[in-house]
Amino acid sequence: MQSFLYCPKIVAKKAKIWYNGIKALQCSIAKRCLMDKKSTKKKNEKTYYITTPIYYPSGQWHIGHCYTSINCDALARYYKLHGYEVLYSTGTDEHGQKIAKVASEKGKTCQAHVDERAQSIVDLWKQCGVEYDRFIRTTDPNHEKRVQQIFEKLYKKGDIYKGKYSGQYCTPCESFWTDSQLVEQKCPDCGREVAPTEEECYYFALGKYSDNILKLLTETDFLEPKSRVNEMVTFIREGLQDLAVTRTSVEWGVSVPFDPKHSIYVWIDALSNYITLLGYEPNQKKQSADFEKFWPANMHMVGKEIVRFHAIIWPALLMALELPLPKKVYGHGWLLMGGDKMSKSKGNIVDPLQLIEKYGIDAFRYYLLSEVQFGSDGTYTTELYLQRTNTDLVNSYGNLVRRTFSMAEQYFGSVVSHSGEADSLDDAFLELVAHTPSLLDREMTALNLSGALKRIFELIGASNKYIDDTKPWALAKEETSKPRLMRVIFNLLESIRVVSGLLLPFLSVGPQKVLQAMDTKFGTSALHAKLIVLNAKSDYKLSPLEMLYPRIDIEKELKSIAK
Ligand code: MSP
Repeated sequence: MQSFLYCPKIVAKKAKIWYNGIKALQCSIAKRCLMDKKSTKKKNEKTYYITTPIYYPSGQWHIGHCYTSINCDALARYYKLHGYEVLYSTGTDEHGQKIAKVASEKGKTCQAHVDERAQSIVDLWKQCGVEYDRFIRTTDPNHEKRVQQIFEKLYKKGDIYKGKYSGQYCTPCESFWTDSQLVEQKCPDCGREVAPTEEECYYFALGKYSDNILKLLTETDFLEPKSRVNEMVTFIREGLQDLAVTRTSVEWGVSVPFDPKHSIYVWIDALSNYITLLGYEPNQKKQSADFEKFWPANMHMVGKEIVRFHAIIWPALLMALELPLPKKVYGHGWLLMGGDKMSKSKGNIVDPLQLIEKYGIDAFRYYLLSEVQFGSDGTYTTELYLQRTNTDLVNSYGNLVRRTFSMAEQYFGSVVSHSGEADSLDDAFLELVAHTPSLLDREMTALNLSGALKRIFELIGASNKYIDDTKPWALAKEETSKPRLMRVIFNLLESIRVVSGLLLPFLSVGPQKVLQAMDTKFGTSALHAKLIVLNAKSDYKLSPLEMLYPRIDIEKELKSIAK
């Protein structure tokens, strides 16, 4: 558990901090206006910088980790397809005592351990179809150097200062705790005795930025969903204390450049990744082209337990560095297993690679993107996973494609054109095909990814219903109905093209195969713009297509899992 470390007794500094706080508050409003101007400029350039948290390479990867990255991946792909220059970053948070502990338990050096784990997460992202643009490791020497420079810069500015930390210390865990964090006077992590201890350390003047952050949270849409704002506001109103940002007991970390027996608090190290990755140079006025282009980030996607670090500490650090603030922090919910957050210690983790190997990558991505109302918690069960795969991917999308392709082959030798006979029955259906992309845009802008998928599957449902209503098999019986039949199949192919185009950000295999079999090019934003509009194609010559998603025998599967 990462804990905030506070200095209870820094009184002398307080008056100054309070005064600075008022001054900074006034500046911040002006600065925010400037930032908005900057962001308008960026908007015109159509850039989109989205980040995942950087992952701890300590335990085993599980589907909870994939949840953050796959949601970011869908957003990144969506913006790429809509003509944005996207930077999607991810990485690993490799320093700290916990990592050192895990490495030593495994009999490995810290470096060997993190190298191995970093490679394994890169492999995992490949398996999940996560197409990030940049991967940062906090042990990258460039990152470490910049973290040191950031620390020194804030020290010179007076926003980091030396003090004393006193608290309850747990020797086996090498952790400080405040009295209120103790459980029955014992360490909340391991339950062992703690002892009152004092240690010299450096503080970041977080309290000074309290009012600014409060304003940021309450007067802008910086943090979403809104349900997370109240919790942060309460936390700040209880009194934001200065933050201890160094430790002397942690060797596996970035050392303070001018006082190397101290190492820099892992969260300062970790949060800085979002700017060091862009080549941010703390000591220079002129920044890298990447920094100029992509900062401030459009979206920091994080799980709800780390919102506090991203919505309080991170903006305060940026204010101290006098840098623009990210446009949004989104705190998503957890994927629960048996009512609990997945974790190795609870023994309730679900292995993503097993699911992908057994049921395919699309089923995996689809479940994570659709099952949980984005922003809320959701529960994983294998039964639901299999049901969702069968109901939506196999029965709805897969079936629509299979039925339409086989009718096109049977009745027209897989060559279908726009000629033929329209009917008023087509109007509402075609209107829905034409309208769905904008419904989806609305959901994506509101970060309702599960809602966006719902819109696509409504169109798939309507397409299957269109088959039932138009009864192509009955039309095929009469030669005179052939023109009508041709138009029905054409309309269905139009819908399948649009649906598959819309699914590209979410799935990795099925829609891509379908579009290829329709001889429809995709992948760039220029192609995408045509892909998802009605009547962009006037005829189809279809190639044979293997079954997209095999049906799962759920009962059999559950029995074999139970065994
Ligand atoms: N290293 C920090 C982040 C530093 S960012 C500057 C960290 N790492 S983590 O590996 O513990 O978590 C990474 C992400 O995975 C977090 O967003 C976390 O919420 C997410 N998830 C881990 N388990 C999860 C679930 N069971 N469900 C959903 N997401 C969860 O925190």
